[in-house]
Amino acid sequence: MKRLESKVAIVTGAGHGIGKFYAERLASEGARVVIAELDSGATEKTVLELNSKGYKAIGIQTDVTSEASVANMVSETVKHFEKIDILVNNAAIFATIPMSRAPYDEISIDEWDLMMSVNVKGTWLVSKAVIAEMKKLRYGKIINISSSTAVKGSPSRIHYVTSKAGIIGFTKTLANEVGDYNICVNCVAPGSTLSEENPNESILKMRSDAANVRALKRVQTPDDLTGAILFFASHDSDFITGQTLVVDGGNCMH
Ligand SMILES: NC(=O)c1ccc[n+]([C@@H]2O[C@H](COP(=O)([O-])OP(=O)(O)OC[C@H]3O[C@@H](n4cnc5c(N)ncnc54)[C@H](O)[C@@H]3O)[C@@H](O)[C@H]2O)c1
Repeated sequence: MKRLESKVAIVTGAGHGIGKFYAERLASEGARVVIAELDSGATEKTVLELNSKGYKAIGIQTDVTSEASVANMVSETVKHFEKIDILVNNAAIFATIPMSRAPYDEISIDEWDLMMSVNVKGTWLVSKAVIAEMKKLRYGKIINISSSTAVKGSPSRIHYVTSKAGIIGFTKTLANEVGDYNICVNCVAPGSTLSEENPNESILKMRSDAANVRALKRVQTPDDLTGAILFFASHDSDFITGQTLVVDGGNCMH
């Protein structure tokens, strides 16, 4: 018996990077998965890849910042798979829609607003729409994605780090608000992960520099994160909610 047999999981931003690995790991444990992604080409490609491996996946082009787009994604999911058990709020401004790594006083107001819109408002909008379905089941697993930078700080990207710190507070408050419905809300905070599809020299250097300052001295890859997602998505974590788990090979210990 696979650990997520009969479950339905949505992974936002799963057309690129780490989200693809989350979707595949959940599917490999028997979940039917929904790729809810802004980039329609990447959505299609990911779904083809998953289904060619014998998994059950559908793709729904979604903009997490749009309430109408999110409502459409949730109703299409229920139309296809009848329910929603698991949500991974992974979509963010990061590698595919890159952010400036400038200091605090050089970040543009437009980029600050976009960051908050996708990373924070998007997480709220998708959670809100999905919880309406989870309440009907009196069951649900929501996994938000923060960053270890939000726990330990960072010398740049203050808009990104602020948005990811917001996700930790969001997780704790939402966990309190939906506990009566047996919905668990937890958070995974990845360390610097080699998630880029075609990393250049400077990205490779940045990722290997990060390896030198953690207890486990190697480059972190998306596969290092999927076990934590599976744990929070499965019945193994049924009495755990409101928590943030840092997965970074022992750099940020808190
Ligand atoms: N890679 C790292 O080092 C690292 C470290 C800590 C946390 N994270 C977090 O992990 C998650 C995945 O990161 P990644 O490295 O795979 O980045 P990525 O850019 O490859 O993936 C993000 C995905 O979100 C999608 N997306 C962006 N805006 C969207 C929108 N409005 N609606 C729907 N989808 C949208 C993108 O198209 C992309 O597919 C992010 O939340 C990121 O903040 C990454």
